[in-house]
Amino acid sequence: MTDIRVLNDEAQFRAHATVFRRAMHWGPPTDEQWQVVLPSYEPGRALAAFEGDEMIGTTQSYASSLVVPGGAVVPHSAISRVGVRADYTRRGVLTALMREQLSTLPDPVATLRASEGRIYGRFGYGMAGRWRTVVIDAKRAVIPGDLTGRVRMLDQDTADKLLPELHEAVGLTKPGQIGRWAGWWARARDRKSDAENSVTVVHSGPGGDDGFLTYKVSENREFVHKLSIEDFVWANDDAWRDLWIYVTRLDLIDKVEIELALDEPVSWLFEDPRVVNTTEVFDEIWLRLVDVPRMLQARTYGTADPVVIEVRDKLLPANDGRYRVSPDGVERVEAEADITIPVALLGAVYFGDTTFSQLAATKWIEGTRLADADALFAVPQKPFCGTFF
Ligand SMILES: CC(C)(COP(=O)(O)OP(=O)(O)OC[C@H]1O[C@@H](n2cnc3c(N)ncnc32)[C@H](O)[C@@H]1OP(=O)(O)O)[C@@H](O)C(=O)NCCC(=O)NCCS
Repeated sequence: MTDIRVLNDEAQFRAHATVFRRAMHWGPPTDEQWQVVLPSYEPGRALAAFEGDEMIGTTQSYASSLVVPGGAVVPHSAISRVGVRADYTRRGVLTALMREQLSTLPDPVATLRASEGRIYGRFGYGMAGRWRTVVIDAKRAVIPGDLTGRVRMLDQDTADKLLPELHEAVGLTKPGQIGRWAGWWARARDRKSDAENSVTVVHSGPGGDDGFLTYKVSENREFVHKLSIEDFVWANDDAWRDLWIYVTRLDLIDKVEIELALDEPVSWLFEDPRVVNTTEVFDEIWLRLVDVPRMLQARTYGTADPVVIEVRDKLLPANDGRYRVSPDGVERVEAEADITIPVALLGAVYFGDTTFSQLAATKWIEGTRLADADALFAVPQKPFCGTFF
């Protein structure tokens, strides 16, 4: 009989990390790795499945925040370390963990990154945002003009101290962005120390520091140098443009690679837009609306006639119901529904990355008034998180 327990002490956390890492086919954390991982555990936020005294499955959430369309920032649980021991898979262990986690999450919304695309829809997560991998031919890349500010390189200790402060100061402004927790920065530092050549540069403009990026360079046998940007945060267009100038003008670099929002206008920076190539589009944000009425009220809506949407949620039936969505807001109603949608797919349309019409055309939902629903949920900017966890 599988039972689910909330973990609260360090020994349990370490067993949790080991079970998760084993599920991912990695070894247990070394003592050194454990010191880095430990700050990302908070009492009450790690769950484990047990068979007798043996831990066989894991999940965890981090306390974070999330920007929704319109710019409001809501409390958010970032879900991670989901794994089931290989000798216990396909027996409902993840299902038991997800049920317990969803019914006890303190926040109205959760997001995760999925190892595989077929796992999380059944638990009410929808694919809500995607990124694209972009490779830039640095040898041919010309951004006209000069830097407007100054870019300076940081030593590791200074970067460790400054980056969390600068990230906080830049703030959360774009839909899909999330707040970073203390343990996130510890992991980022760990990844950087694995890559000895990881570099952080900070941009400063007239108002002081206003952006940073972290990158590392690898070279293959043909001496082709690829610069991979791992973190890129900016407060304004000048910081964004100057940091792009910096990475594309570095000596020896042949290619620059980065994961970006689908609609980030990077091609427009260059004299020749063909130096920018999208090599892959991949799902980034899987979104679970835990408190549907609260999350529907949290975002803003476009201009269209109101639409009544009926939401179905097998795991959290308090969300079941009909919601009248209009440019002025959302209310629960008894009126007949125009569209019926499972909660996972409401998650998929929430950020506007996909539309009701697309889901109807592909036979995932049925309904009328699809064009009005599309217009209500339309967004000026594609969602992008940019914080991997
Ligand atoms: C993914 C994982 C957590 C699933 O755990 P599990 O205990 O086997 O899942 P369950 O038995 O509760 O499965 C529930 C349902 O999801 C399906 N499912 C589970 N994992 C799936 C997968 N990887 N692909 C497709 N379907 C999957 C099951 O077939 C089952 O379907 P059913 O209800 O129609 O029978 C586990 O296989 C695992 O640890 N994988 C390796 C690590 C990993 O990928 N973790 C996720 C990180 S984001």
